Parts: sequence; structure tokens; C-alpha cells
Amino acid sequence: MKMDPTLERTNDVAPSTALAYLDPRYWDERFAQEEHYEWFKDYSHFRHLILQHMKPSSSVLELGCGNSQLCDNLYEDGITGLTCIDLSAVAVEKMKKRLLSKGYEEIEVLEADMLDLPFSDECFDVVIEKGTMDVLFVDSGDPWNPQPETVNKVNRMLQGVHRVLKPNGIFISITFGQPHFRCPLFDAREFSWSVEWSTFGDGFHYFVYLLKKGQRSSDSSGNAQKVDMPSISLFHDELEDEDYIFRTNIDEMECLN
Ligand SMILES: C[S@@+](CC[C@H](N)C(=O)[O-])C[C@H]1O[C@@H](n2cnc3c(N)ncnc32)[C@H](O)[C@@H]1O
Repeated sequence: MKMDPTLERTNDVAPSTALAYLDPRYWDERFAQEEHYEWFKDYSHFRHLILQHMKPSSSVLELGCGNSQLCDNLYEDGITGLTCIDLSAVAVEKMKKRLLSKGYEEIEVLEADMLDLPFSDECFDVVIEKGTMDVLFVDSGDPWNPQPETVNKVNRMLQGVHRVLKPNGIFISITFGQPHFRCPLFDAREFSWSVEWSTFGDGFHYFVYLLKKGQRSSDSSGNAQKVDMPSISLFHDELEDEDYIFRTNIDEMECLN
């Protein structure tokens, strides 16, 4: 079934224009009012796709944690070496308080920009983001031919992620961005990672990209592959919804959540 992008907003914190998602003041104001919002879907929908790539000893960096409970859920599944960052000081303060109140004091929460990661090289086993990279695309223009500024920002982010990952580390990106738009960026020659993806969700499908550092094949083009997982929807279902998906933007995602 196709989703209707004109669906009513489910909350009153959505901005009047998607460009606000690029403004840290928007996020501060939003997080001052909002206690919990899970972009796309919560952990239960994609746990089976990501947990297998982490160990209890893994050091994990989450980019743009907002007020999501992804880090709580990972912690409860035994992944305790977590660091969360967000550009919003309000999100960071509230996240720190919430995690302390739950007794999850090992989780580090820092105010930081994912375009300028304040970490040394090769210090994380896993970097994960959900809906954070999508923010960089709100002013990208034509998704088939994004503006050079968008491509530059995405490259900066990916270069930082690649740098902080350990030699066999993995970057997990959870997004509504389809492979024909994301893979050319993930697959840039400067990166040593392989690129795979799977999908989850009913009706509207989301993507989990797995970028495994050091595992790029010697043929460096056309690296990306879909991984079929049991019990998840197949890619051709998305193609039926292609017309809708190609027009989808991050602000519409708030209506679909
Ligand atoms: C769409 S929300 C996703 C929040 C959360 N990951 C989730 O799944 O619900 C984007 C988040 O990224 C944060 N953000 C935006 N730009 C950022 C940047 N350059 N560096 C770090 N965080 C950023 C925002 O403050 C916001 O919390």
C-alpha cells in the first residue's frame, strides 16, 4: 500500500520547512519540548539486522542520538561500550540525565559534530546512525544529482567515520535513502569498506547499510550488494513504490513514523 505524504503531522514539533533540520537551534527547541521520538522505527524492527555485528566488547559510536532509545536498547542487549554524540546541547543534556537515571552510566554522551569527529583514528569497532545522515540531504536538490555542497558534507562525514573505525570496523547506516542514491556516495574509491544493505518495514521500507572497513573487493566499482535476510521484505516491493519513494524526503518521514 502506498503511503500518503500529505498525512497529518503526528506532533507539533515538526518544522514548517525541512531546511530547519540543518539548524542546530531547531533541534535544541524541539528537544526542549520532546522527551522521546524514534525516527523511522524503533530497535525491535531492525535488531536482527544489526546486533549480529556487535560483541559485548565492541566500542560503538552513535551519531546524532537525539532523544532516541537506540543506545538504551543496545545497552540492554549487552553492548555497554557506547558513545553517543549530537550537535544539540539540549539533546545531550537530556540524554545524559535519562541514562544516569536508568543507571547506564558507562554510556558517554558528547556534544559534537559528525562532520568533525573529536576522536582519534581507529578507535571504534562500530559507528551507527539512524536518520542523522539523512539530515544532510534536506537541501540536496535533485536526488539523482545532489548539489556539490551536499556531496561535500556527506563525504566529510563518511571520511570521519572511516577514519575513526578500527581496521575491521563496521559503519551501520539506518535510513530511508534508497541504494541508487546512497551507494554511489558510500562506494567512493577512497573508502576501503564493502557496501551491503538489507531492508525492513511493512508498506514503507527502510534500509540498513553495512559498510565493512577493509573488505572492499579488488574491483573497486559496483561494490554494493543487497543481502537477502529471511523474514524481511524483498527489494522488488520497493520498486513498485518507486514513484513515491523517489519523492520522499526526511520531513515526510515524520508523517510515516
Ligand atoms: C532525524 S534526527 C535522528 C535522531 C535519532 N538518531 C533517531 O533515530 O531518532 C537527527 C539528529 O541528528 C542531530 N544532528 C544533526 N546534524 C548533526 C551533526 N552535524 N552532528 C551531530 N548530530 C547532528 C540532530 O540534532 C538530531 O538529533
